[in-house]
Amino acid sequence: MIPENTGPAAVIVLAAGAGTRMKSRTPKILHEIGGRSMVGHALLAARSINPRQLAIVVRHERDLVARHLSELDPAAVIVDQDEIPGTGRAVEVALQALDGEQHLTGTVVVTYGDVPLLSGQLLAELVATHEREGNAVTVLTAVLEDATGYGRILRGDDGTVTGIVEHKDASDAQLLIGEVNSGIYAFDAAVLRDALTHVTTDNSQGEKYLTDVLGLARQAGGRVAAVVTADRWQVEGANDRVQLSALGAELNRRVVEAWMRAGVTVVDPATTWIDSSVTLDEDVRILPNTQLHGATTVARDAVVGPDTTLTDVTIGEGAKVVRTHGSGAIIGPDAAVGPFTYLRPGTVLGESGKIGAFYETKNVTIGRGSKLSHLGYAGDAEIGEDTNIGCGNITANYDGEKKHRTVIGSGVRTGSNTVFVAPVTVGDGAYSGAGAVIRKDVPAGALALTVAAQRNTEGWVAANRPGTRSAELAQAATPDSSSTPASTEEGNQ
Ligand code: UD1
Ligand code: MG
Repeated sequence: MIPENTGPAAVIVLAAGAGTRMKSRTPKILHEIGGRSMVGHALLAARSINPRQLAIVVRHERDLVARHLSELDPAAVIVDQDEIPGTGRAVEVALQALDGEQHLTGTVVVTYGDVPLLSGQLLAELVATHEREGNAVTVLTAVLEDATGYGRILRGDDGTVTGIVEHKDASDAQLLIGEVNSGIYAFDAAVLRDALTHVTTDNSQGEKYLTDVLGLARQAGGRVAAVVTADRWQVEGANDRVQLSALGAELNRRVVEAWMRAGVTVVDPATTWIDSSVTLDEDVRILPNTQLHGATTVARDAVVGPDTTLTDVTIGEGAKVVRTHGSGAIIGPDAAVGPFTYLRPGTVLGESGKIGAFYETKNVTIGRGSKLSHLGYAGDAEIGEDTNIGCGNITANYDGEKKHRTVIGSGVRTGSNTVFVAPVTVGDGAYSGAGAVIRKDVPAGALALTVAAQRNTEGWVAANRPGTRSAELAQAATPDSSSTPASTEEGNQ
């Protein structure tokens, strides 16, 4: 949904660059941190200031990028940059695309698709300063210890911003300047449009520099000013994978800290990774080595971890999820999962239910209070309430071609190693014996047994494994037994 359009006339996000230093088949701005592409972060920040229009300029890997953008933000206008290079040209083509019958008026904000930590709050501050001071251009800057590669901010004796010089075009004296251009600006639309017609490619890179607009705006009598941020992370772009991981770690540090301030206990922030799309309630506890991704939500008093990775999992109040790998699952209030549990999509565990050690589940609904405590697989199944599934039970749901359902009622008790050969239904309150292979429906309250008679062949070890340790111990245990094997067979009851 597009929020009310109370913000600037437009935000233009620049994203036409090649990003060769990523050394990737994936376009740079599609690389993710915190569970979202870099351009996804940039679009969220842009949207948060409620622009009347949002444009994004593309060129490199145009089709891949455009497909991603139309999924993320269908209302964004995708603008193709032509073969004329440079940030100035990128903004010029965007303005042409946005200008309809009437030219845009008011504030136009420019940001980058590869600066993922920029917050909507800082953008709003930039716009507010720009409009309050009645500036022609307001540039967001930061003072860096190492300004290598950045455009430097030039200021007059009175401290006012006079222009920007690119690193490659700077004199030795200008290279000593620590204040850098972030590439993020607020412009007056008319000033921007007019200045861009005068920008040339007459520089060391043969590009149309957007930065030239500052000097031109000043010459035309406009006020040019800067907002200096002390938070360098918000203006930092990712050009390679080293920077990508540094930005990812910083984003995570910020997300984790925000949750702690909101009342979540995070025992070890350094090994806890939380996507920006996750939501947590007060008094949730996250134990070390836990990653929460996607649309995962955790309700009050739940404990997650250690060593747990969850994607799109909903966890109810007071539930405990230990050493679990899960996706697309719903875990009810006060339920328990783990350790060493694999929850696959469609798993729904009811209130106070349990899925224990070495269990894999998929597409299964488990009723309130039912327990699958150890060692098994439950797939394409429905299990009622207060049922206890014994150790090692398996739903044999796949006949080699199709999947079939197993329906197990409430109050059921199954013996260890029961196999349910689906499709099959087990009625309420039914029991099964150890090792049962349930191929036929079990009526409510029945005991299902499929156990074959057991045959003991006495003296078999002495006859067939003479001289072994087993034979020696058997001989010691039964000193007067003959060495001739003898069979006894007994039924089960
Ligand atoms: C630019 C600024 C520099 C600033 C730096 C901050 C200019 C001339 N220089 O330098 O002052 O310190 O950003 O990172 O603006 N892009 C396009 N089309 C193009 C060229 C670039 O859309 O033709 C996009 C890129 O995808 C990128 C952004 O603009 O998102 C900046 O491009 P980049 O080449 O990284 O700019 P720099 O030369 O580093
Ligand atoms: Mg460049």
